[in-house]
This record gives sequence, structure tokens and C-alpha cells, in this order.
Amino acid sequence: MPTTCVLGAQWGDEGKGRVVDLLADTADLVVRYQGGSNAGHTVIFAGETYRLHLIPSGILRPGKTCVMAHGVVLDIPTLFSEIEELRARGHEIGDNLVVSDRAHVVMPWHKRLDQTREQAAGARAHGTTGRGIGPCYADKVSYRGIRVGDLFDAEWLRERIDQNIAEKNHLLVEVYGQEPLDADAIHAEYLEFATRLKPYVRDAVALLHDAIDEGKQVLFEGGQGVLLDVDLGSYPYVTGSNSCALGVPSGTGIPPRALDRVIGVAKAYMTRVGTGPFPTEGDAAVDERLREAGHEFGTTTGRPRRCGWFDAVLARYSVRSNGIDEMVIVKLDVLSGFDELLVCVGYDTPEGRTDIVPATSPGLDRVKPIYESLPGFTEDVTGARTRDDLPENAQRFIAFLEQQIGVPISMVSVGPSREQIVDLRGE
Ligand code: GDP
Ligand code: IMO
Ligand code: MG
Repeated sequence: MPTTCVLGAQWGDEGKGRVVDLLADTADLVVRYQGGSNAGHTVIFAGETYRLHLIPSGILRPGKTCVMAHGVVLDIPTLFSEIEELRARGHEIGDNLVVSDRAHVVMPWHKRLDQTREQAAGARAHGTTGRGIGPCYADKVSYRGIRVGDLFDAEWLRERIDQNIAEKNHLLVEVYGQEPLDADAIHAEYLEFATRLKPYVRDAVALLHDAIDEGKQVLFEGGQGVLLDVDLGSYPYVTGSNSCALGVPSGTGIPPRALDRVIGVAKAYMTRVGTGPFPTEGDAAVDERLREAGHEFGTTTGRPRRCGWFDAVLARYSVRSNGIDEMVIVKLDVLSGFDELLVCVGYDTPEGRTDIVPATSPGLDRVKPIYESLPGFTEDVTGARTRDDLPENAQRFIAFLEQQIGVPISMVSVGPSREQIVDLRGE
């Protein structure tokens, strides 16, 4: 593996946390390279459920170094509560946790602006997680951001806060009719945060370069998914970062050629939280059934996820734009009991059949999925551990997906727990 990236090949919540947890077994370092506490990664083992928003999923395995690299936007209170929860549950957090001094900090105005804009948008809301992600990344690229390293110089921090507060309070008060934020209080609070954060703060670029030079196994854990990527996703209904494989070099400082392998994670169907196009979104009955069977409610916000059939056009797009070498298919167990399983193999448009993903959201809204129907299976597959344990129709479904997406399916997840996996890698 030396350096491997695990990323979501759909609209997030594909089960990246559970796949990273599996692969972390043989990794030395596990690294988040983008996103922030908008992510919610679930890991279940030994009857315990963990929901991680910022800390890499590798933290649950002793002896792994977990890094939040500079592509991550850091919500410090969320990080502290995650550290406390993990400690309370018996996990050691110390030298094994690293926060990049170059990471941007999600400041109180980012969350307030995110939530205020969503409220003001009413029915046209984007459906963000309200964690301040978009405003924080916007400030990063408009040179207003505050980085972790800035927290350790009281005077410089004050200057950065004052510059921001003048502008943000104008927006909050004059445009949105909200209460202003207090620069003194924020300055004092973040100086205190800095003291508590200090033990974890390192130059993560140098740390990763050294790790790679020493031949360590580095696992990069994507947040969100390719279809939420700010460039490749269904813009504007995306997140603020590059959740695609390209986010690894830019978000960590490793050279692009240092990434050896890209593993995509996709559900055996599709889900999406928030607004935006979704060609295979099921009719009400299918949507409801998948949501119930798959417990499709957001890990971060608890919102019901929209559900639909597997879209092979979008999967191929994710494979090609990320150089995905292998795909892990999760939640096969959820499809048990459907008479037929539909897979979208192409799009019908007024201009004819296409395999190209339209650039605009209205364009993707207009396509009509062309479906291939496969026979379903009724057996409970949650106990399957080899291909032969799977019913014939489930095997046929997996083989069809593999042929459609064009890369090997290396693992099939049949339940949320660590051991519920059909590992096809040795075949
Ligand atoms: P992530 O954000 O990509 O890490 O995914 P989430 O944790 O937000 O959502 C995935 C959900 O599916 C979690 O509740 C997992 O426990 C659950 N899950 C993962 N793999 C499987 C599976 O194979 N079968 C079932 N039934 N649930 C799964
Ligand atoms: P994980 O890592 C699913 C979605 C939001 C919204 C859009 C923008 O758990 O897969 P943001 O708060 O990022 O500005 O919201 O992106 N979104 C996710 N959907 N899984 C996630 O993360 C998501 N992170 C953001 O619902 O549509
Ligand atoms: Mg999630």
C-alpha cells in the first residue's frame, strides 16, 4: 500500500470511515486532507459505535499516528469534544494526534454566516451542515483566513480577528439583522484554545515527507465524496474543498507522484443529503425502503438522506477523474428483499443518449437515467465473508457493477461492523 487514498465516489456517507478503519490495521499514519466537521465517519467494532467528525478514523487502532493536514478546516471546540469523548471511552490521545500548523481555523463568524445564509435562503437553502465550511474556505482563498499557527502570536491574532470582525459584523448586522460578534471575547477564547491545542500542533508537511522517505504506510482519508468536490461535483451543490484525489497533494504537501493507490468507496445504491441534482433518486416507495433498510439519516446532522439506485455513469466519472484503482462496495445487505435491482447505465437527454456528466446542475437535473434491471436476492447476506457465501443474484449484481465501472471491486461490505466484509483481494 505505501501511500493510499480512500475517498467517497458518490455524494458522501459512502462508508469511508468503516473502510479506513479496516485498512488502518496495516497503516502507520492516517491523514485527513480536506473538509472539516461537516464529515461524519462511523466506525463500529466490538459492539461500540464511534462517529468521528475531524479526527481520522485510524485513531481507534492503537499505535497509529493520526494527522489533520492543512487542507482540513479545523473547528477547535469540536476537536476538543472529540478528544474528550475518545479519552472517556478508553482511547489514548497524545503524540498520536497531529494538527497541522497550516490548517485554517473555523472561526465563530464562519458558523454564524453559514447558518444565517442558510436561514435567509429559505426554500432555496443549499442544505449545508451549518459547520462554517464554505465561509472558512472562502476566507482561505480571499486571504482573510486564520491558521492554526496564527493562534500562538497574540498580537498578530488580534490584528487578524479585528480585520475579519469589521467585515463580518457589517454583514451580520447590516445585511442579515443579527447580533454582532465580540472581538475581545473571541480573542481571549482562541488564545485559551491555543494553549490547549499546542501539544498536537506540528509541521505536518515535514512530518509526512519524513514518513514517506522512511517508507511508512500512509493512508489518506477523504471527507465528503467526488460528487461534492468543489470542482468536479454538482456545483453549486457541493462542499468547499477538493474531496477528490487531487486534494491529497494540495491538502497535505506530498507530491502528486507520491500517491500510490486510490480506493473508491461507493454504496450499492446512492444517497445524498442536502439540495442538488440526483438523477436516480427513487420513486417515493424505493426512496423510503432504502432509507429504512439502510438507516439513511445523516451522521452529522441527523437529516434523512435522499435515496436512489446505483448510477454507473457517475461512478465511471469518479473513477476516471480520480484514477480510482479499486472500488469497495458497501451496504450490499440493504438491497436484500428487492425483486429487481436497477442500475443506471447511461443518460437520455433531448440531444440523445450520453455517458457524459453535464457540467451544470440544471443539466444533470434534466437527464433521464437509462436502467438495466437485474434480478434481486432475498437472502440475508450479513454473514457472508467470501464471494461464494453470497447468493447467486448478489454475485451477479456485483459482477455487473464491476463491469460497468471498469475497475476491480476489491471488497464488499455486508454490514456496518468491522468483520462484516467480503474481501475479494486475494482471488
Ligand atoms: P462516511 O461518512 O463515508 O464514513 O459514512 P457514514 O458513516 O456517514 O455513513 C455510512 C453508514 O453506513 C454508517 O451508519 C455505517 O455504520 C453504515 N454502514 C457502513 N457499511 C455498511 C454496510 O455494509 N451495511 C450496512 N447496513 N451499513 C453500513
Ligand atoms: P462525509 O465525510 C454527506 C453536503 C451537505 C451539503 C453540501 C455542503 O460524512 O461523507 P457543507 O456543510 O460542506 O458546506 O455542505 O455537502 N455534505 C455532506 N454530505 N456526507 C458528508 O461528509 C458531507 N459533508 C458535506 O449536506 O449538501
Ligand atoms: Mg458521513
